[in-house]
Amino acid sequence: MMASATIPVRVAEVDRITPLVKRLALQPSDGVSLPAFSGGSHVVVTMQRGEGVHRNPYSLIGPPGDRSRYQIAVLRVERSRGGSVFLHDHAGIGTALQITPPVNLFPLIGQARKHVLVAGGIGITPFLAHLDELRRMGARYELHYAARDLEHAAFADRLLAEDPGRVRLYPSRQGRRIEPAALLAHQPLGTHVYVCGPGPMIEAVVAAARAAGWPPSHVHWERFAAPGPGRPFTAVLARSRRSVLVRGDVSLLEALEADGLQPPYLCRGGACGACETAVLAGEVEHGDHYLSDEVKAAHTRIMPCVSRARGDRIVLDI
Ligand SMILES: Cc1cc2nc3c(=O)[nH]c(=O)nc-3n(C[C@H](O)[C@H](O)[C@H](O)COP(=O)(O)OP(=O)(O)OC[C@H]3O[C@@H](n4cnc5c(N)ncnc54)[C@H](O)[C@@H]3O)c2cc1C
Ligand code: FES
Repeated sequence: MMASATIPVRVAEVDRITPLVKRLALQPSDGVSLPAFSGGSHVVVTMQRGEGVHRNPYSLIGPPGDRSRYQIAVLRVERSRGGSVFLHDHAGIGTALQITPPVNLFPLIGQARKHVLVAGGIGITPFLAHLDELRRMGARYELHYAARDLEHAAFADRLLAEDPGRVRLYPSRQGRRIEPAALLAHQPLGTHVYVCGPGPMIEAVVAAARAAGWPPSHVHWERFAAPGPGRPFTAVLARSRRSVLVRGDVSLLEALEADGLQPPYLCRGGACGACETAVLAGEVEHGDHYLSDEVKAAHTRIMPCVSRARGDRIVLDI
């Protein structure tokens, strides 16, 4: 399998939303319409910088009906390998980028009786398109949005203006915090909860839902976090009879790409399953949320976007 074809786009608008978040509008370079998408979708943005390349997923924040341009909102992550900093400091009107077609791993559930959306920080982005869809559906919903303070709560003014009564803000510097157990209590049967934000927030909401007896099928989350650096190792590609050195600061997926391969991917975050690869020998340090505990324990499959070899060497069926 090969990575799916990308779409050439150009940056058509850039504006600062908060001190650390910029909005970028991306228009197709060839002028044709972009593929349709639904709320919760993301695209993977490829940024070429000299010899280096960054490929980062970003949620689409514009109204799902708009096929003339896509909009993303990017948090500047200071201590990173540079993808978000590139979009903040070097992407201007006209900058050429490549994007994948949109993929939705965080869709709204049409049959839900009510939708409870819980956002933390930049985790607000997938909900912007969700809200547009919910309004059009005439659905019952509420949004709970935690941020450091009002200045850093991206799009908060707009959300409060568009949906007064349905949007509640929780600025942590004013001591306001989302209490997941209280939030989930007394919701009507058939409610679905969706959470996107820092890991501890996702875990708290998922744990509160479980403790309150919510069916797992009614609890949805999306994690933005990229894995941290790991130990270097060698990936032996059994079928193509070659070896690839995976440095500590790159993922196995990135090392394979740098070696000229085009492994498939959709999320680059261990959630979608597209990059699943068979392991012939060696143990895996799993970092994904896709494989079952049983498969993980067998060390026969690896998700190269987030997982690494536990030892110095791993043999892959590639
Ligand atoms: C589905 C999804 C949607 C997202 N939507 C948004 C959004 O709307 N707005 C937003 O600001 N951010 C979003 N993110 C996060 C975004 O993709 C980047 O992770 C973030 O911008 C930081 O990028 P960076 O290049 O600055 O930092 P880095 O963290 O240095 O790089 C991030 C990229 O490098 C990879 N990576 C880094 N180190 C390693 C390593 N040691 N091993 C393996 N892989 C490594 C990650 O997989 C990731 O692709 C989203 C993430 C996901 C998964
Ligand atoms: S690309 Fe989605 S799990 Fe690896």
